[in-house]
Amino acid sequence: MVFRMAREKKDSVSKKNTAAQKAAAPEKEVLPVEEPVPAAKPAEPVVEQVKPAPKKRAAAGTKKAAAGKKTTAAKKATPAKTKPAPAAEVPAPAAEVPAPTAEVPAPAAEVPAPAVEVPAPAAEKPAPVAEVPAPVAEPVPAAEAAPETADQPRRSVAFIGSECHPFVKTGGLGDVMYALPRELARLNCDVRVILPRYACIPQEYQNKMVYRGEFYMDLGGTGRNYYVGIMEYVWDGVVYDFIDNEEFFSWGNPYTNLVDDIPKYCFFSKAALAALNYMNWIPDIVHCHDWQAALVPVYLRTLFRDTPVGRARSVITIHNLRFQGVYNIPTIRYWSGLPDDVFNMGALKQDWVEANMLKGGLAYADRITTVSGTYAWEIQTSEYGERLEEHLRYHSGKLRGIVNGIDYGMWNPETDPALAVNYGLGNVLEHKMANKLALQRELGLEEDEGKFVIGLISRLTNQKGLDLVNAIIAQVMDGNTQVVVLGTGDRQYEDAFRSYERAFKGSFSACIQYDEARAHRIYAGADALLVPSRFEPCGLTQLNAMHYGTLPIVRETGGLKDTVEPYNEFTGTGNGFTFDRYESGLLLDAINRAKTLYFGNRYHWDEIVQRDMAKDVSWERSARQYKDLYLELTQW
Ligand code: ADP
Ligand code: GLC
Repeated sequence: MVFRMAREKKDSVSKKNTAAQKAAAPEKEVLPVEEPVPAAKPAEPVVEQVKPAPKKRAAAGTKKAAAGKKTTAAKKATPAKTKPAPAAEVPAPAAEVPAPTAEVPAPAAEVPAPAVEVPAPAAEKPAPVAEVPAPVAEPVPAAEAAPETADQPRRSVAFIGSECHPFVKTGGLGDVMYALPRELARLNCDVRVILPRYACIPQEYQNKMVYRGEFYMDLGGTGRNYYVGIMEYVWDGVVYDFIDNEEFFSWGNPYTNLVDDIPKYCFFSKAALAALNYMNWIPDIVHCHDWQAALVPVYLRTLFRDTPVGRARSVITIHNLRFQGVYNIPTIRYWSGLPDDVFNMGALKQDWVEANMLKGGLAYADRITTVSGTYAWEIQTSEYGERLEEHLRYHSGKLRGIVNGIDYGMWNPETDPALAVNYGLGNVLEHKMANKLALQRELGLEEDEGKFVIGLISRLTNQKGLDLVNAIIAQVMDGNTQVVVLGTGDRQYEDAFRSYERAFKGSFSACIQYDEARAHRIYAGADALLVPSRFEPCGLTQLNAMHYGTLPIVRETGGLKDTVEPYNEFTGTGNGFTFDRYESGLLLDAINRAKTLYFGNRYHWDEIVQRDMAKDVSWERSARQYKDLYLELTQW
């Protein structure tokens, strides 16, 4: 299931009657009352009293799943007014055992958060990502691949994040949450992926989920106990646990606006850790992603410190620093229930009024990663730091860049069912043209092998460099060029692309939609793919394109810089066409260089096509780097 929503929107979409909004709106009166929950001993079962009847997911899902299970599960699934705690052998949900506020430790032991931050010198150079071409790997289901146990000690990892292909995806985060756990499973990791059970997850997957348990959890200053259901789906060596709560997850796509998303992801982060305790599955590493899961490391070292999961080490990955989960301090304090100590300038506090969830996660995590070496360096500068550059420089000792890969099972032109004609490295030159003609036909473009087809597959937001495209489109459309845009997002870009489709009929196609299969066909049918981003933490579209023999035209920023080597006409080396400064003239120049080669020297163009298809853009090497990081954190 895919969506067209921005990751984080400040504007408040009016949506009636969500608990989140009701409680968040009158924050001035409600907020400061934060009652400490009485501490209980971690191992003791707790008999919970249900306060306001917690809203459970529609019986359908839970009952259906429970039906396939034993009676105990079925009984548990039956709504109860006063709810017994989970079976005695199951440790009490961690949420019931908050550490007393006074004893809350400072962020991660080795990097204490000072009251005033002292910026460390910025790293001198981005770590270059070595390119070692490797043969194209056969797609192998994670479970079938022989775990490389000889040199790979076993570690358990809980991935916690807000989206994951194929359940819910708005962009590359969903791809990474799918592919990296599978690759880690091959490297002898025991991986669980914890996700919200959004109602919008396709029924096909909802049907496969099995009821795993439920408990009740308090949340911040709400004074309520919230239902936390766990629905499980085991697939290809990876266990997916979906946190179920109708109140938070039954609407939204999956993101809506911060007024609702802040409570939603406070609940989710806390419930994820409580669920690990409840399931008695204590990972070596908790690996959380982006601001939606950024409170996890903070909870781990505060409210969950003295619970079983408190012994896990934490890693946070920044996929996109632009989104941080910033809201006023009272609201985040109210929903998170985090102790006062964490609202200091070294952790969550951003300024006098605002708290920043990502900033807190970065302070408390044992390691920070981002999705390319160059972005790891860029985010320590004011140009790319999104106001966190100083905080990141301070924590630079625990910051790494590990470039993303793509899943060779999901992205394989030899087997891709979406394509008109499958092809591989050996026959790309014969068969790629058939995909181009099929794409032209599908989109109502002039069917002509001779046209140079440029694809653009993107969220249509300011991040993606679309202003540059707008500025030069008239010069790009020269009669020999066709442009295909696939994306959704900001209205201004959607409308602009629609207008180009009208202006350049038969040569410009604006597909304002999210369509996974069509994306595959564009990767296969286009000659070049445009990624002129203003900033790009990693970028996956250029990797998909190269793997499909489509040459990327990219701006040299973030992961684009690390993954696309500029074509050098003198040495004949390189993977694509690049430009550095964010200027439309430079983008036009890069496109023209591509066209010149395409029309002027097809032999050399085809060489690059083959080189790109042979390039190793798989997850293998990067997953090893993550595994090494986990090992570094868990040396026992
Ligand atoms: P980001 O995460 O910033 O959106 P990435 O390049 O990392 O950018 O990942 C984008 C992912 O989403 C890719 O897998 C791309 O194919 C996919 N994608 C983006 N827009 C669309 C769309 N409109 N239809 C289908 N897939 C899309
Ligand atoms: C983010 C970034 C993108 C990256 C993706 C996955 O959405 O914008 O560059 O590839 O996350 O890490």
